[in-house]
Amino acid sequence: MRKKIIAGNWKMNMTPSEAKALCETLKPLVAGSSADIVFCVPAIDIVPVVEAVRGTNIRVGGENLYFEDKGAYTGEISADMLKDAGAEYVIIGHSERRGYFAESDADINKKLKKALEKGLNPIVCCGESLEQREQGICFDWIRMQLKIAFDGISKEDAEKVVIAYEPIWAIGTGKTASADQAEEVCAAIRELISELYGAKTAECIRIQYGGSMNAGNCRELLGKPNIDGGLIGGASLKAEFGEIANSGR
Ligand code: 13P
Repeated sequence: MRKKIIAGNWKMNMTPSEAKALCETLKPLVAGSSADIVFCVPAIDIVPVVEAVRGTNIRVGGENLYFEDKGAYTGEISADMLKDAGAEYVIIGHSERRGYFAESDADINKKLKKALEKGLNPIVCCGESLEQREQGICFDWIRMQLKIAFDGISKEDAEKVVIAYEPIWAIGTGKTASADQAEEVCAAIRELISELYGAKTAECIRIQYGGSMNAGNCRELLGKPNIDGGLIGGASLKAEFGEIANSGR
């Protein structure tokens, strides 16, 4: 039985002082959750958030990392920096990074390798645009994204990865994929992992859904057999996140 993983992606929201206040609001609300709870926060919030959630069931993650260890890469953050600050997870290949910051599948593969080498738990994102869905290439697109992301990753490492299926058309739009649509793609992702690594790895890898998940739709989505959690944007910045965290109980 896969343990559910409910992660917030704060994106570019919350100053350090706002972040601390949000942690105080959310800590009691997620305390009873039976899922793994992760707050993926802006780099500058990692240290104060780690401090604020110390001793609780909340783990902290970054929203990005660079694949080099150190050096002249102005504005980037390394895996060692994330680890030393207390982050245990990192989001890799979010569609906003792919879209606004031109991250390629090859970059994402390098980032995934670096995160695994350094002992961070990666949350690797994939997902199609509305146009791609309408063209009927959703599965082909996601298979390509994931095949490149996992290229050269061992079976042992693959089992540590969380995959987040986030249809771009459902992100921040209030337009959620139906539970059946989300389940169909998550099942296809598990099938791909089975092709690449075998049935045992496919059985243990966790696949999240992300895209306008909220307190109203989370139960149906999380009730699907291949959806093992959520990656939550807007609703992770409010008390509503507590309801989502507890919806699996
Ligand atoms: P929303 O929940 O705001 O749609 O964002 C989803 C997302 O992009 C999480 O990574």
